[in-house]
Parts: sequence; C-alpha cells; structure tokens
Amino acid sequence: MHHFHYRDGELFCEDIPLTRMVEELGTPCYVYSHATLRHHFEVFDGAFAPMDHLTCFSVKANSNLAVLSLLGKLGGGVDIVSGGELFRARRAGIPPERIVYSGVGKTREEIDAAVGQGILMFNIESSQELEALNARAEALGRRARIALRVNPDVDPKTHPYITTGMQSNKFGIDVETAIKEYRRAASFPHLDIVGVDCHIGSQLTDVAPFVDALERLKTLIGRLREIGIAVKYLDLGGGLGITYDRETPPHPEEYAGAVMERLKGLDGTLILEPGRVIVGNAGILVTRVLYTKQTVSKNFVIVDAGMNDLIRPSLYGSYHHIQPVRDEGRDTHVVDVVGPICESSDFLARDRELPMVKPGDLLAVMSAGAYGFTMASNYNSRPRPPEVLAHGTHYHVIRRRETWKDLVALEFVPDFLKRS
Ligand code: LLP
Repeated sequence: MHHFHYRDGELFCEDIPLTRMVEELGTPCYVYSHATLRHHFEVFDGAFAPMDHLTCFSVKANSNLAVLSLLGKLGGGVDIVSGGELFRARRAGIPPERIVYSGVGKTREEIDAAVGQGILMFNIESSQELEALNARAEALGRRARIALRVNPDVDPKTHPYITTGMQSNKFGIDVETAIKEYRRAASFPHLDIVGVDCHIGSQLTDVAPFVDALERLKTLIGRLREIGIAVKYLDLGGGLGITYDRETPPHPEEYAGAVMERLKGLDGTLILEPGRVIVGNAGILVTRVLYTKQTVSKNFVIVDAGMNDLIRPSLYGSYHHIQPVRDEGRDTHVVDVVGPICESSDFLARDRELPMVKPGDLLAVMSAGAYGFTMASNYNSRPRPPEVLAHGTHYHVIRRRETWKDLVALEFVPDFLKRS
C-alpha cells in the first residue's frame, strides 16, 4: 500500500501533484511519502506486537535524517553498518540502546565510536573482530554487548549479489565455528554475550528460508544454553521483499506469524532489521524526458536520471515500474529508458512497453525509496538529486540538490600545479 495515485490523470504523492513539486524543485528528484513510510513501519512493527521485539530499520536502505527521525519517533531502532550510519542515527535522535551494528569490516575508529556510545549490540562477523572489540572496549574502559552473526547456510533464492547467508558468502560465522567462538567470547573480560544474529539476504519473496534460518538459530541457542551461555536477543536480520513487478512476497503479518509461531516459549527479545519493506515502495524517482530517438533496432527514451541516480537496474538488472506523471491514455510502444551517462549499462528499463512520450514529459520511476538515493553517486560529475518528503498537502526538501560547486568542494589543486 502506498500513496502515489492518479487523480484525473495526474500522479499525486499524497495530496500534492508531482508536476507542481518538480516545477519548483526540478528533476531528477526523489520523492518520499510520509504517510506510506509511517504506514509501512506501523504494519511491520505492529505485526510483531504480541512479542517482545525491536524493529531496527536498516539504515543502508535509506539514510536520510528525516526518514530516520520519523522511524525513530515511531519507536524504531536502527541496524547500522558503518561509523557514518552511527553518526546519522544519533543525529536523527535514535537512542544508543536501539542501535545494532552489523558488517564484516568494522574499523577501529568505528568500533571506538560505537563502544563509546554504548550501543545495544555488536553483531560480530569473525574471530578477529571479536578480539578487536574486546581490546578496544578494554582500552576505553567499557564493556561491549555482542551477538555472533551466524551464517546458517540457507539459500534465500534471491539475486546472488544480495544473498548473504550461504557458506560461500563472506558474512557471518558457520554454526559449528560459532559455538567455539561463543566459548571464546565468554572468556573475554570486556564483552557481554547477549544475542545471536543472522541475515540471510535481501528481497526474499518466500517465508521458507527465514523459517529455516530461524530453526538453525534456535538449535544454536539450545546448544549454547547447554554450555552455560544464555542469550537475550535473537536478531533475524532483514530481507523481506516487496513488489516491484509481479513478485508476491509474504505480507509482514504472514512473515511475523511464521516467525512468532516458532518462537513460542522462547523468552527474550526478537530483533528485526527491515530496510526495503519499510521504504522501498514509499519513494519514487521523478525524471524528465530529454529526447526520444529511434535506431535501427530500438526506441530509446533518454531521461535526465541515470545510473548514478538509481543504479539498481544496471547493477542487478532490477525491475522498476515506470509510469507517466500525466496519464493521457496515449498509445504504447516498446522502449529502452536510458540516462545521460556514457555507459551502455545506463538504463532504467529495457524493452518496456510505455505510453508514447515526448521531450519535457515527466516519468515516475516507482519503488525507488530503498537503495535508491543511498547508492547514488556523482559519476560523470552529476550532482545528486534532492530528496523530498511529501506530507499531506505539503512537502519538505529533506536534502537539497547538489550543485556543481558541491562537486568540487572537497578537492584541492596543489600549489605546484597552479604555477604556470
Ligand atoms: N541487515 C543486514 C545485516 C543487511 O546486510 C541488510 C541488507 C539488511 C538488514 C536489510 O535488508 P532488507 O530488509 O532491505 O532486504 N542494494 C541491494 C540490497 C542490498 C542489501 C544489503 N543488506 C538492492 O538494491 O537490492
């Protein structure tokens, strides 16, 4: 459910016509719906209400301060994977006791920042990381709470680039090794073992892999108990998929039902790390048609958003629905929607049936709220687009458009090159 709808042939976000918004803001432009974000969080979080739980939004999916603030106000925590995400989360007012920190390559500086803040839990991904954390906690005169990220070796049946819980992936620690590492962790004086964690992949459209992973985690918890290690938190990661095209992912209620059924009798707190399911369909990218062109084999629609603005189609071959901002019922034809970047992989859609468009027309690239802006770059020296939050009849610029000056703001030409 989202709040992007046509009224008299005009696409609106909540109660604002997108045409009006981009007249004022230009294109390309990311637009998020406040009501949709809120609804998605409440539905997801509400689905787990019967259980003691904490929904930790995965910041990498959308790290805008306004989005994080909103989710924090709704009671959410966050899942972070860098010092930068920690900084953002704290800036957005997320309390440290609602922050979990995952990722295989935490640096000393990042560890220090998170230990200093006293976050809820570090999800540890290797034996050396365990040692590093213990050493830094000792140096800082603190204790750190940990879970081991277990690699349960289940196939989430999603794109290989976003599969994380299989033996061949760099993530987590296999179950047998995890038991040894838990024993070792128990002997480290500056660490408190509080949880077990896993994250098996992203854009999952079936509950079965989640359930398999959960069963393996439960078995592990049982085995840990036998050796005198009790955990309070079970972190099941994120990964619940959304509908981009024709996928039929489980509704959060169904997902929560399947999870909670298997956790009956287990006392402790469940942690979830949803990203895409909260923000994916709460955001779109609005772009303007620059030119159309026919070659011998194809019809191209050249738009002002490129792979630097939204890389998912180029990187994963992902489908994003594209629709005209003004639906005038025009005839359709099959086109490639491409951007201005000098690469053939710069496309937003390939062989897509779309209504005929002409230069100046606006197109909405749907489901772009997750991993859209956060993966945007300045490739081809293109300033990144603004992010806008629609709220009823108003909108708020929550990140301004970058300027050409911004592009060079961090660069220096050494003096010797300035001499003629
Ligand atoms: N927790 C951890 C440890 C993760 O690595 C991720 C995503 C999540 C939670 C959130 O997963 P979600 O609920 O959003 O599926 N750039 C890719 C997705 C990469 C996901 C990486 N990890 C894309 O655009 O599809």
